[in-house]
Amino acid sequence: MEKLAIRGGHALCGETVISGAKNATLPILAGALLSDGKVRIANVPHLRDVTTMVQLLGRMGVDVLVHDSMEVEVDASTISDFSAPYDLVKTMRASILVLGPLLARFGAADVSLPGGCAIGARPVDLHVKGLRALGADIEIKDGYIRARAEKLKGAHVFFDAVSVTGTENILMAAVLAEGETVLENAAREPEVIDLANFLISMGAQITGAGSNRIIVQGVGSLSGTSYRVLPDRIEAGTFLVAAAITGGKVRLRKVVPLHLEAIIQKLRQAGAGIEAGDDWVELDMRGRKLQAVDITTDPYPGFPTDMQAQFVALNSVAAGTGAVTETIFENRFMHVPELQRMGADIGLQGHTAIVRGVKQLRAAPVMATDLRASAGLVLAALVADGETVVDRIYHIDRGYECIEEKLRNIGADIRRLA
Ligand code: EPZ
Repeated sequence: MEKLAIRGGHALCGETVISGAKNATLPILAGALLSDGKVRIANVPHLRDVTTMVQLLGRMGVDVLVHDSMEVEVDASTISDFSAPYDLVKTMRASILVLGPLLARFGAADVSLPGGCAIGARPVDLHVKGLRALGADIEIKDGYIRARAEKLKGAHVFFDAVSVTGTENILMAAVLAEGETVLENAAREPEVIDLANFLISMGAQITGAGSNRIIVQGVGSLSGTSYRVLPDRIEAGTFLVAAAITGGKVRLRKVVPLHLEAIIQKLRQAGAGIEAGDDWVELDMRGRKLQAVDITTDPYPGFPTDMQAQFVALNSVAAGTGAVTETIFENRFMHVPELQRMGADIGLQGHTAIVRGVKQLRAAPVMATDLRASAGLVLAALVADGETVVDRIYHIDRGYECIEEKLRNIGADIRRLA
């Protein structure tokens, strides 16, 4: 099991380039199944989850070519199998994103139920309900979603809860369905917009992506395309917090500042100086005092749940007390006991972590439990006194491209232990 050894106390200074968004790449790779032609996807991040999705497509007989530049070519014309087996799906729940495209284009899909993960039960009832509304015949048996459909028909789909991948699955199913589909209470995340723009570039007819009401006119088929994935707002937010927590000055390149608004606002409240240009953001914390901030996670454009652990870490060494409330997932405080081992003063009250800033965290052996919790532990280690060893860092590799190289390049004392 690989580990990261991090010696705290270095203010991060310099510049780093943000990679393509994991949570846009995954639905876009699945969406390539919808195309009659070749699909080229650029700015794909080199992440474990992306490798898993490429493996899944390959298992289906889809021709996937990954170039050194991490540009990926997909040609689904060779597809021979419409299933996503448990051994792959259990390692990455986002595999469920092949369900909509397989059903829409090939009329059949057998996709393992993803099962829960560390942060929650992660049900998929909204995915199934939406596809049934489009006329799919879906049976859930032996841990698999067995879906069949002669031809999907457009419908009015209402989401009882805002679901990012639920919205994405139904959106992808609707683009080849007969007639009009309305997605009501749709997710508004930038990654949903990026998927919609990708589908439109192949000839899909979609309006309203980014709002809570998306309208799709089904078309007969989709052509090939070349598309570039948008920058990862969560990686960007994580690096901004790294600069803030260490009292440094870091510029991020190839970002979309608009997508970072909720995060930037909170970091300014925490005392950081932040400037932004068209495709860059710079945070300066030198000589400034970190103030604790209150956070409540919300679907976009609210404060992202994927940045919650990072802000618990930030609050743990800030002046004052910050209340962090998690409204999206039922068990997303797995980082708290690990941070407490490092001396953080955190009390859990239901879905709220009350974080009282301490002068100094202490290095300790800690364990990553899920992707963003592990990011929170890395951030805490960057300011802890001594050398922290973070175990089970395969969680980090799922969502952060070359995290130790990027952090080392801006001054962190970090190395990977085999
Ligand atoms: C996406 O997960 C992201 N993953 C998550 O990022 C992110 O945390 C989450 O959205 C919220 O922003 C990808 O995009 C691949 P949801 P998703 O469906 O789509 C409930 C990361 O760190 N729900 O928006 O699975 C669900 O239990 C990952 O990169 C149902 O009840 O999340 C949750 O409480 C972690 N029924 C809420 O909705 C359903 O059918 C939001 O979940 C689906 C979801």
